[in-house]
Amino acid sequence: MVEDRGRLGGKSAIVTGAGRNIGEEIAKLFASEGAMVAVVDMDSGRAESVAAAIEKSGGRAVAIVCDVSRTDDIADMVSATVGAFGGIDILVNNVAISDNKDIFELSEDEWRKTIDVTLSSPFYVTKQVARWMVDNGRGGRVINIGSTSGFKGRPTALAYTAAKSGVFNLTQSLAVQLAPYGIIVNQVSPNMSGSPVGREVFDRNRKVNNLLGRPGEPEEQAKAVLFLASEDASFIAGANLFVDGGTMALASFADAPKAR
Ligand SMILES: NC(=O)c1ccc[n+]([C@@H]2O[C@H](COP(=O)([O-])OP(=O)(O)OC[C@H]3O[C@@H](n4cnc5c(N)ncnc54)[C@H](O)[C@@H]3O)[C@@H](O)[C@H]2O)c1
Repeated sequence: MVEDRGRLGGKSAIVTGAGRNIGEEIAKLFASEGAMVAVVDMDSGRAESVAAAIEKSGGRAVAIVCDVSRTDDIADMVSATVGAFGGIDILVNNVAISDNKDIFELSEDEWRKTIDVTLSSPFYVTKQVARWMVDNGRGGRVINIGSTSGFKGRPTALAYTAAKSGVFNLTQSLAVQLAPYGIIVNQVSPNMSGSPVGREVFDRNRKVNNLLGRPGEPEEQAKAVLFLASEDASFIAGANLFVDGGTMALASFADAPKAR
């Protein structure tokens, strides 16, 4: 039985933006570790295909169509998850969109949309999921997906970098405010893994400046998220884990050392 095996055996998990790339791999890895997974995405085709793949490989999943920037959609998504699996133990806030613009190209509407989807939606979703956990006397885990872009300036994104910087403090403040209820909040911050945010194409030859000399795979992000969702991370709270091939360890004025 699925419930009896794996590092997340019997747990119920919501993964937002699980229709492709990093979110898809988190959903699939969670399911392979025994979790029942709500595959949440605003794109119904993507959500259904990931949920179907999980079920086909013997896991348990439901596809839930939800725009995480809409609080009424989130309420329906929480009810649907509880209806399908009987509760919620783990939430992964993975959705983000990027503006990919500089200050003079970026309109005020694009700024507001990027901030709403990338920074505000983890607040909207966590608020409703944590409310359910608290009202039902259950602790849980929340993992926010941040970005290395939240820690440094970039020439080609403004709203996204500002939003991801906000996500880091959101993680810390949620960790502080939810710990009394037994809800542990942490963050994984990726860099260059799979296709760039919002894009379909995965260019494995894209130029990277990190210590490992290659881009990351979405599965490598998923493994870090699994760790933070599992009992192995029982004494970690309010932390940020960079999964970035060492990008953040490298000074911006230095070139990555060549392989020897
Ligand atoms: N890909 C990278 O290299 C990279 C680097 C740093 C950080 N990240 C972070 O990792 C996370 C996943 O990135 P990705 O590249 O896998 O994203 P992606 O763009 O490939 O996939 C995001 C998914 O979210 C869905 N989505 C978008 N807006 C939504 C909304 N409002 N409601 C519900 N679903 C919505 C999309 O349909 C899509 O399936 C993001 O938080 C991103 O900022 C990714």
